[in-house]
Amino acid sequence: MPTNAIIGTQWGDEGKGKITDCLAEYADLVVRFQGGTNAGHTIGIGGEIFKLHLLPSGILRRGVMAIIGNGVVVDPEELLEEIRMVESRGITVEGLRISDRANVIMPYHKILDGAEEKSRGPNGVGTTGRGIGPCYSDKISRYGVRIGDLMDKATLEEKINMIYPIKEGMMTVFGAPTQDTVKNIINTYSSYGSALGKYVTDTSVLINDAIRNGKNVLFEGAQGTMLDIDHGTYPYVTSSSCVAGGICTGAGVPPSSIKEVVGVVKAYTTRVGRGPFVTELTGGLGEYLQKRGCEFGTTTGRARRCGWLDLVIVRHAVRINGITSLAITKIDVLSGMEELKIATDYEIEGQIVKDFPSSISKLVRARPIYQEFDGWKDWTKDETEKIISNGYKTLPIEMRRYLRFISSNVGVSIGIVSLGPKREETIYLRNMKWEN
Ligand code: GDP
Ligand code: IMO
Ligand code: MG
Repeated sequence: MPTNAIIGTQWGDEGKGKITDCLAEYADLVVRFQGGTNAGHTIGIGGEIFKLHLLPSGILRRGVMAIIGNGVVVDPEELLEEIRMVESRGITVEGLRISDRANVIMPYHKILDGAEEKSRGPNGVGTTGRGIGPCYSDKISRYGVRIGDLMDKATLEEKINMIYPIKEGMMTVFGAPTQDTVKNIINTYSSYGSALGKYVTDTSVLINDAIRNGKNVLFEGAQGTMLDIDHGTYPYVTSSSCVAGGICTGAGVPPSSIKEVVGVVKAYTTRVGRGPFVTELTGGLGEYLQKRGCEFGTTTGRARRCGWLDLVIVRHAVRINGITSLAITKIDVLSGMEELKIATDYEIEGQIVKDFPSSISKLVRARPIYQEFDGWKDWTKDETEKIISNGYKTLPIEMRRYLRFISSNVGVSIGIVSLGPKREETIYLRNMKWEN
């Protein structure tokens, strides 16, 4: 049976958590397949706000199985804390499952993340400091500790005894020596293994069984296409495959099983951390969007850089991910602005460029080519409810023009328009129930 995916089309924070939560209503399984605690997915339900980093957003829906796939890097200390946080708010985690193949973020990964950033000085990536890059590096260079190892003390001991001296050496080179000991690490991490053991299994078997049995499986992307290790603004990216292709390796499912790919598009653009951003607004308008859109990072609290919507980026995401429908979020943030702009192409040294370039030095020189749009009137909170219940046709004509332009320029229809952070503040343009 086919599955469905939610993917970020920009530099993360598009509202993937909210959209996943909305569509999880019809899901049996919600699966994270990459990233780690660098993700921050915010979900508003009624008057409550949940900020999730590692737990799939499906955890908030009773009866939905929430799966952390093998492609995720798991910080067990943070995961246990997140489990405690949701449980203290009345959420059950009975449906949580963690892949025994997922790599573990170790204390030295977090130290090295900070130390490497420091050593890069002004060329730093601006990471979240959660140990993501060093953990994925160890996975690829085969120095990784996997979740399954935490439940097998002899293997854990053998691995840490082999790996730790190398990491100690690296920490010293980077000027970040540590007092930690092999014994401490083994004891602490095997105790995490005991605490998490009941959730650990071969999640690929579980997901493929569910697919075969006609269950509705939803994959929840973290980060976004422009932060993808291959297709993003390298080296200003994260260290995982955030694109739809990452689902196959990060969850252990065949490509043929992925049917719908929902691309989440924020109605303007934001980015946290360093790197080129062609449509960035550095003056008052950028600050206005930042404030009105509450653009402060869920994970680090850093202010997000803001700019106009960039369709060169979104087309890049549509192509790489095979996006089949769009979920446009935060368009309410643009309400009340007199004039709006959307970048359709770039101009680089007199040439019109339609496809997102790989070269950072070209991107730095790129100038956006804008199409201008009339804005629409702001509305009050009370009016939001009325507008949502009356549906798409009652949205201001100027807003519908803005939306139609996005859809026709990127060649994909819109399935969802999100008009606020809450689950309830959502308009569906077509049936997204995905009943199998
Ligand atoms: P994610 O990382 O893609 O899940 O996005 P984040 O949760 O980091 O950031 C999106 C922010 O926008 C969160 O604070 C959401 O609560 C909020 N949000 C999501 N959709 C909407 C929307 O349509 N309108 C408004 N105003 N806020 C939204
Ligand atoms: P969600 O899932 C926005 C950015 C960091 C930094 C770069 C590398 O909430 O959309 P890392 O710690 O991953 O090595 O940092 O990637 N970054 C994100 N930006 N949203 C995220 O996740 C991000 N996860 C990482 O700011 O620029
Ligand atoms: Mg986020």
